[in-house]
Amino acid sequence: MTLADRIREAARFIREKTTITPRVVAVLGSGLGASELEMKSGVVLPYSSIPHMPSVSIPGHKGELIIGTIAGTAAAVFSGRVHLYEGYTAHEVTFGVRVMAELGCETLLVTNASGSTRPEFDPGTLVLITDHINLTGEDPTRGAEATELGTRFLGLTDAYDPGLRFLAHRAAREESIRLAEGVYAASRGPCYETPAEVQMLSSMGADLVGMSTALETIAARHGGMRVAGISCVTNLAAGIEGSSPDHEEVKLVAGEASGKLARLFRSFVKLLGETSS
Ligand code: HPA
Repeated sequence: MTLADRIREAARFIREKTTITPRVVAVLGSGLGASELEMKSGVVLPYSSIPHMPSVSIPGHKGELIIGTIAGTAAAVFSGRVHLYEGYTAHEVTFGVRVMAELGCETLLVTNASGSTRPEFDPGTLVLITDHINLTGEDPTRGAEATELGTRFLGLTDAYDPGLRFLAHRAAREESIRLAEGVYAASRGPCYETPAEVQMLSSMGADLVGMSTALETIAARHGGMRVAGISCVTNLAAGIEGSSPDHEEVKLVAGEASGKLARLFRSFVKLLGETSS
């Protein structure tokens, strides 16, 4: 069975469970719970029930796909993310996004937790991702199987859609939430960076560093979707003002900021529904 066959089989399964075609799908990073998004009339599909969907192995990540409406717009939420550092391949990490593209979903909203290379982005700051630096060494468009899903040489200029970025800033203004902008560097993890690596990332132009997002964005663009990314800074990256990242702190700060992120998210989806329906 090819990757495209597996994607079609998973999409068929989801179509049997709901008649809703999500217009927007969110992949939730650490700390943001789906319940805070106030989704209506959702079907909840555990990843283990979806054919070929990888499971989530880390505590705090649930592993459910929820399909319903958010602020009146048909939406899907992947509550629980699949990471490279769990040992999964680039195709596995991006499988859910591929299935959403197959279902006809137009927009991906990725959220994540990150360390900041800039002292002024203190913990709790929300940052709109303007671009990424993919340092994972992986690319979900690599290999013969991926050519069935999209073009071979995908351009990634404006990978994070300028129109959606405009909308995200509008949503932030309406909710009186400070939304900074920055470039996200994606590492494979799971080790946090060394201070020397953080210095390198900073001089390369990265404002944030984390262990997700870039591959999902690439797969979504490959499938013709538009992408917006919002990062929650949970800590200063290693060595910045003497910082030493700690997973417990990351989870704590992400949890504390989750209400704010959920508000921004709902407002964003509402504007999205108004502007493109
Ligand atoms: N580095 C990498 N990933 C992260 C960090 C960090 O400092 N904080 C949260 N996710």
